[in-house]
Amino acid sequence: MRKPLNRNMDTDVQLEKRRQERIISHPSPGPRNSLQYWTRFVHPLRVICNFAIIYANRFNPSVNLKNALYRLTGMKVGKHCSFGLCAMVDIFYPQLITIGEDCIFGYDSLILAHGYLQRELRVGPVVIGNRVTIGTKCTILPGVVIGDGAVVSAMSLVNKDVPPHTLVGGVPIRVLGVVPEGERR
Ligand SMILES: CC(C)(COP(=O)(O)OP(=O)(O)OC[C@H]1O[C@@H](n2cnc3c(N)ncnc32)[C@H](O)[C@@H]1OP(=O)(O)O)[C@@H](O)C(=O)NCCC(=O)NCCS
Repeated sequence: MRKPLNRNMDTDVQLEKRRQERIISHPSPGPRNSLQYWTRFVHPLRVICNFAIIYANRFNPSVNLKNALYRLTGMKVGKHCSFGLCAMVDIFYPQLITIGEDCIFGYDSLILAHGYLQRELRVGPVVIGNRVTIGTKCTILPGVVIGDGAVVSAMSLVNKDVPPHTLVGGVPIRVLGVVPEGERR
């Protein structure tokens, strides 16, 4: 059951600002778009290994084996996390992703810790708390922090922090309600 919204809750602007403060911008080293120079940002062998593990994991039906394989890339994954089929995580900077225990990532969800743009590469850590539920086909952008017990509804764009025990959804997300502590969805 949903409770009324807490009027003291951080505003969208504050939550978005916090995320921006965690992002580091690297200028494109040449005249072309920054992705043209990706091998200058991360060693290609590392990206190839990450891609092989992370892409193969999309089709891995064993949630626990999946977690163990993700950890090989440097990603920090807590106990009992469950990634649905076709979930995808950042292949360039998986080591910047930290996930607590007992989380669910829905089918075809995506966690990004980088964004190549025309004139810059933006990189930011993603931190997800314990018992968080990410619905199917959500995209989580670099620099985002999601608090314990939060729920992100299906098909959402997470472009700002999500306070603990909060239900958010939409493109981009907005607060839809509160998930009472102790209640799990
Ligand atoms: C988050 C979720 C669990 C909420 O389900 P629920 O508790 O039944 O709640 P509802 O669907 O009634 O949604 C609650 C309210 O939020 C609104 N809402 C839900 N998702 C929304 C979205 N993405 N954008 C805007 N509003 C949304 C609903 O319209 C509803 O509004 P109302 O109370 O004014 O009618 C469900 O919407 C969802 O996204 N489930 C995804 C599960 C999933 O993907 N799991 C992983 C499987 S692999």
